[in-house]
Amino acid sequence: MTEPWDEAEIERPRLGRAAPVRVRVPAKINLHLQVGDLRPDGYHELATVYHAVSLFDEVTARPGDTLTLTMEGEGAGSLSLDESNLVLRAARLLAVHTGRPAHARIHLRKHIPIAGGLAGGSADAAAALVACDALWNTGLARDHLAELAAEVGSDVPFLVLGGTALGTGRGERVSPVLAPNHTWHWVLAIADDGLSTPEVYREVDRRRAAGLADAVAGEPDTLLAALRQRDPEVLAATLANDMQAAALALRPDLAATLAAGEDADALAGIVSGSGPTCVFLAADARHAAAIAAELEAAGVCRLACAVTGPVPGARVV
Ligand code: C5P
Repeated sequence: MTEPWDEAEIERPRLGRAAPVRVRVPAKINLHLQVGDLRPDGYHELATVYHAVSLFDEVTARPGDTLTLTMEGEGAGSLSLDESNLVLRAARLLAVHTGRPAHARIHLRKHIPIAGGLAGGSADAAAALVACDALWNTGLARDHLAELAAEVGSDVPFLVLGGTALGTGRGERVSPVLAPNHTWHWVLAIADDGLSTPEVYREVDRRRAAGLADAVAGEPDTLLAALRQRDPEVLAATLANDMQAAALALRPDLAATLAAGEDADALAGIVSGSGPTCVFLAADARHAAAIAAELEAAGVCRLACAVTGPVPGARVV
């Protein structure tokens, strides 16, 4: 039986819809990045091990009459907030896909550097999908969100998932890596300026065409086995990135960053994705703090931060 107060007095759903939705999303590093051939569609075939680390951006979505984006933090003033922004592209895609009006006031708080090889833009897009899904009550399953995410960018499905995952295809096909529960300690050395991902891929192709053998990563099997052993010394020997030589060719100064990490006794150091961020593996939290302090003292980066992984992907907080 329908009670008379059912319609009139239950205000929770309305209040629920009106409440802002805050989503936290991590940066990613690639523990292993094997770059295959350039495909006819302009992408490279990849085999990569993604790892989400505790450097977070935050996306807040509020009800609005149109779709707007504001931001603060890393890159404010230089990041374009027009329709080319991945946050707005992700929100519009979800709206079209679910038949909802694209109405939201979105605010982005950035800590992940722009064009840093940490998938910051992809992370924000993943966060926007999760935030608008909650704001608009579209209730898509995570797999469904991941499919939409792939349309926004190759790294976006991983940022919806988080943790540690194997990425194949152009990086958009992700499956979680089943590894024992273990926290790894890393240091991110963040550079002054960014590097354009397509430019680094082009440099990979150019070097290959010139006969420079840059493929170092091979298959990720050894790294996956190392993750299961929970021993940072073992993991250190297996980190590999096929884009590193190309990133170093475009940014020779990164050699000094990697050398400074070695001087600071990091267990290993590699360029993160397409760079220019360099990532160092530490034995524990104290070791990571010491490495970060040495990197900053050496003046080889704008900022060094100790982080841990794996952490979850885009989540409502
Ligand atoms: O997928 P996303 O839009 O983030 O990729 C940005 C650019 O990076 C692509 O346009 C392409 O030039 C390059 N890319 C690539 N191979 C991949 C992923 C990205 O060449 N697997």
